[in-house]
Amino acid sequence: MADQDAQTSLDAGPPMIPSLRWDEPPEGPVLVLLDQTRLPGEEVELVCTDVPALVQAIQTLAVRGAPLLGVGGGYGVALAAVRGYDVDEAAALLEGARPTAVNLGYGVRRVAQVYRAAVRNGADAEAGAAAALAAARDLHREDAGASAEMALRGLELLDELLPGGGHRILTHCNTGALVSAGEGTAFAVALAAHRAGRLRRLWVDETRPLLQGARLTAYEAARNGMAYTLLTDNAAGSLFAAGEVDAVLIGADRIAADGSVANKVGSYPLAVLAKYHHVPFVVVAPTTTIDLSTPDGASIEVEQRAGGEVMEFGGVPVAPLGTQAYNPAFDVTPPELVTAVVTEAGAVSPVTADALTALCARSRQVTIS
Ligand code: MRU
Repeated sequence: MADQDAQTSLDAGPPMIPSLRWDEPPEGPVLVLLDQTRLPGEEVELVCTDVPALVQAIQTLAVRGAPLLGVGGGYGVALAAVRGYDVDEAAALLEGARPTAVNLGYGVRRVAQVYRAAVRNGADAEAGAAAALAAARDLHREDAGASAEMALRGLELLDELLPGGGHRILTHCNTGALVSAGEGTAFAVALAAHRAGRLRRLWVDETRPLLQGARLTAYEAARNGMAYTLLTDNAAGSLFAAGEVDAVLIGADRIAADGSVANKVGSYPLAVLAKYHHVPFVVVAPTTTIDLSTPDGASIEVEQRAGGEVMEFGGVPVAPLGTQAYNPAFDVTPPELVTAVVTEAGAVSPVTADALTALCARSRQVTIS
């Protein structure tokens, strides 16, 4: 295999600007996002002064990834409250922006619940808004903490599964600091392995059609000085066949009660490959991604995106005009193909409904109605 270490050092640089931050300039409070549609070429911030702007940023994937959607959704409710917009209307708009990542609804409902309780208890608009902002900040802080815990627990599990060290890990989509207040989920585990001197190579799927792997994961791997190699999604099979993959690490957008995992389209084929080649397939996600109210994989709503994303590449049309495209944003991996689910509250393996229920019961996540 060709070595790409030289490439990593070319791109390495200081830590990127935060994926999301609350700011209070004189013109009024805003939510500032690192515009992920412009990476890796430009690090440009996108300032959201209202909820429709944030909804658009969510739908265009300027801000994306399950944990960050939860934090962003929470701040969106706070933004509405602080700026005096209708909070119920804002919450409905935000929750409906994308359907699959359960964290978005969790973040929105949690902050809206705090706001409504404050108002019910006699808070005026200003105090209600302050309570909403405090709740969004809590969510933000908790996400960073969960990320650090997942990295520790995930590395422990990897070392158990692969006692020899020198891990060669394949990952899909983007699951690093760009999707989290911390260092992310699956990527944070790979990063912990790198820091511990136990990552031999990070295989990065490009992740068609929007290239979250090529544009975002490769960018994060380079900045962290990791040994990484980019591959087209189609090349994963031959990589497994060549014995070059020791484990697959992915994140999740929603984990149903039976352990079915919705994640970026292309995750399920990797799970099938991993099973065939006897390679561990590990899902890393905060407990906020586990949705016990969705019974199984068939009940998960998978976002369908515009066909134009498939029919062009880098803005250049690659299919005849009028071609129909199938463009689901996610797919669903059944629990029997998942070796383990790693969360901040612990790991479950095998992945069963009972184990997930017990895990959620002992997690410290705030429950919402
Ligand atoms: O469509 P995206 O880019 O929001 O999809 C993101 C993913 O599928 C991630 O793998 C998932 O949200 C987990 S992020 C920790």
